[in-house]
Amino acid sequence: MAPKVLVSDKLSETAVQIFRDRGIDVDFMPDLGKDKDKLAEVIGQYDGLAIRSATKVTPAILEKADKLKVIGRAGIGTDNVDKDAASKKGVIVMNTPFGNMITTAEHAIAMMFAVARQIPEASTSTHAGKWEKSKFMGIELTNKTLGVIGAGNIGGIVCERALGLKMKVVAYDPYLGEEKAAKMGIEKVELEDLLTRADFITLHVPLTDQTRNVLSRENLAKTKPGVRIVNCARGGLVDEDALAEMLKSGHVAGAAFDVFSQEPAKDNPLFNLPNVVCTPHLGAATTEAQENVALQVAEQISNYLLTGA
Ligand code: MLT
Repeated sequence: MAPKVLVSDKLSETAVQIFRDRGIDVDFMPDLGKDKDKLAEVIGQYDGLAIRSATKVTPAILEKADKLKVIGRAGIGTDNVDKDAASKKGVIVMNTPFGNMITTAEHAIAMMFAVARQIPEASTSTHAGKWEKSKFMGIELTNKTLGVIGAGNIGGIVCERALGLKMKVVAYDPYLGEEKAAKMGIEKVELEDLLTRADFITLHVPLTDQTRNVLSRENLAKTKPGVRIVNCARGGLVDEDALAEMLKSGHVAGAAFDVFSQEPAKDNPLFNLPNVVCTPHLGAATTEAQENVALQVAEQISNYLLTGA
């Protein structure tokens, strides 16, 4: 009998076609992930589950997942899957680490420009017919120092793009070797050094026990006055209350956040502060990235279910 896969989030139809082409029996129910009771009711029929971020795979869901062998997350973070509970049940959890990295890096660069030139506020003001030409004085990126926290797949692309913009790039990443950093044309530094030198700081690390609150109140206080902070990685990496205070005091000149400690973010200390640019976790939201991750997750799940590889 053909293995059965459930797609419970809004995944590109490319994924569905790949499952069909590979001879997998697929159910495409893109809104099911939001209904945890319904998901718990049906999950027992499936060998594979393909998700984005809306489906929360909790221990209660896994409890009912008697046939489940694999969960594939179309994207990088697997924070919406209880990995301990999955591994206890013998369920493999996969992600697609490469499909959306360019898109996410481009969003971080876009956010850096947006906060440097106050583009969202200037746009709102212009739409309102105000023509406030002298209100929105920006800064250039050229010759500014960008501090990159995490120079892996996405951070590495950000470094490359920033060098193309003629920025100086310093990176804090315990996994980055001196030689690799030199090859990339960037400087490997300790966190303390990055904090005191960077005009812009951008984060590109997953949220783990080691990275949680990496920009804590204490670390934010060590940053260069006038710093601008970009977070397109994960909520929880920055102390949002402390950052809001430092934006109000003027120590931090601006922030551009795509991710928040609570998502969906309906309320947040950063909301409605001047020169804070916010987007609703759009880091991976391009047609190209969503095609890539859908294709990759479908191939990976199919390979696993059909060949065990
Ligand atoms: C990811 O983990 O791939 C990104 O944060 C994008 C997303 O969650 O949609």
